Amino acid sequence: MKAWRKLLSGLLREAENNMNISVIGTGYVGLVQAVGLAYLGYKVTCLDIDPEKIEQLRRGQSPIYEPGLQGILEKVIREGKISFTLEKKEALANAKIIFVAVGTPSKDDGSAEMKFVQSVIKDIIAYAQSTALVVIKSTVALGTNEQIQQQFIDQKRKNIVVSNPEFLREGTAMEDFLRPDRVVIGSSSQEAARKIAHLYRALEAPVLVTDFASAELIKYASNSLLALEISYINSIAILAERVGADVTAISRGMRLDKRIGEKAFLHAGIGYGGSCFPKDVKALINIGQESKADLPLLRATDDINQQMSGYVLDKITKKLGKITGKKIALWGLSFKPNTDDIRESPALAIANKLIDKGAEVFAYDPIVKKIKGSESIRIAKSALAACQGADALVIATDWPEFATIALQDIAKSLSGRCILDGRNILDPNEVKRSDLDYLGIGRGIGNGYTVDILEG
Ligand code: UGA
Repeated sequence: MKAWRKLLSGLLREAENNMNISVIGTGYVGLVQAVGLAYLGYKVTCLDIDPEKIEQLRRGQSPIYEPGLQGILEKVIREGKISFTLEKKEALANAKIIFVAVGTPSKDDGSAEMKFVQSVIKDIIAYAQSTALVVIKSTVALGTNEQIQQQFIDQKRKNIVVSNPEFLREGTAMEDFLRPDRVVIGSSSQEAARKIAHLYRALEAPVLVTDFASAELIKYASNSLLALEISYINSIAILAERVGADVTAISRGMRLDKRIGEKAFLHAGIGYGGSCFPKDVKALINIGQESKADLPLLRATDDINQQMSGYVLDKITKKLGKITGKKIALWGLSFKPNTDDIRESPALAIANKLIDKGAEVFAYDPIVKKIKGSESIRIAKSALAACQGADALVIATDWPEFATIALQDIAKSLSGRCILDGRNILDPNEVKRSDLDYLGIGRGIGNGYTVDILEG
């Protein structure tokens, strides 16, 4: 009897794993979702409209740099768990679950552009079975899930919509997929919500099931709070500098309060970037305006963030006297370490401001080797090559390797003395000992003593 039960559950698992899942859009969100689901054992078909990307993926090459992704991609391709197509019918006709993970860029008024999601819904209506579950992963405008559900009802289709916002961070996206803090599911159907929760059961994460609007807002409210923390600590950094305090000590002191927490986004720097925070804060401000619920905290968050590159420029200008004709080394181009993503990168904002003021910028990034549309930024072969003969060095992204480069070597390569540490990764006292001038973000340090945590 036991043997039969075991066999039966094995067969059921097998059938479930062979259930066709499709993921529409192979950007950061879609590709990690698809590869992650294939890694969990499901059979996944990915659809994209970009022939180059699909060709590259078929060859087993990830179009994006994301730690861990390439290895898992190769594994699931070898095991026949994932396939890539440009054919809508092929991806949609047999799918039992369809994940929608296409882009929702900012429109001029800050609201999220829904035309790509809408076009996928049209394709689902044209090609997919009426019983397929439609899971919205894209960060969509408020009310979108409800509206798509209504669209299906109007078309006399049985498709159930589930909102399943993503919380992956670039640079650790694969890890975040496999060890999520939580899974959020918004749906008006308990059965559909259960099915999606069941899909992720191997991840052993808490699952919150809620209505559509709450699921949509959890995503916006989470990203906006993290962005708000960054703008808050950047404001405290400016204050710290004026009064001779060190923001890194302030941040450490704050994080020791368990209600604030050691993972709080209180690392002061040149501001947040990427494809999410800038866009999502603006979108939530817009949602507030549309709903007549003003969100002044988020307007301030966005304003402070936009002011950070000007603040950095003022600092260098004060130090160098003028920018015209100066040669500036810039370390880091991606919006954060461990990614090749330069969307809304504060590093680029600073580089472009320096160039506008007449500087020559020599940049080095461990992964980003070319920048479309910003050709005036010269790319150096190594971190030290960028510094060769430069009047100042600006550290714009906190790639861990930047903190390991010997200060004496930097001092030898630069012709000037100034390091502007835009991510506060260096020890100011060590920099000064190497006969260099240190400019950080919010590091007044009046008496030169940095606080450490004493045991006991
Ligand atoms: C962010 C969220 O952290 C994810 O949870 C979310 O899923 C994702 O957006 C998304 O909506 O897709 P991500 O944009 O990859 O993830 O990067 P973060 O690690 O959050 O960093 C965002 C920016 O804030 C970076 O420019 C980073 O340098 C900056 N930052 C972060 C700070 O300046 N200080 C900090 O303390 C933390």
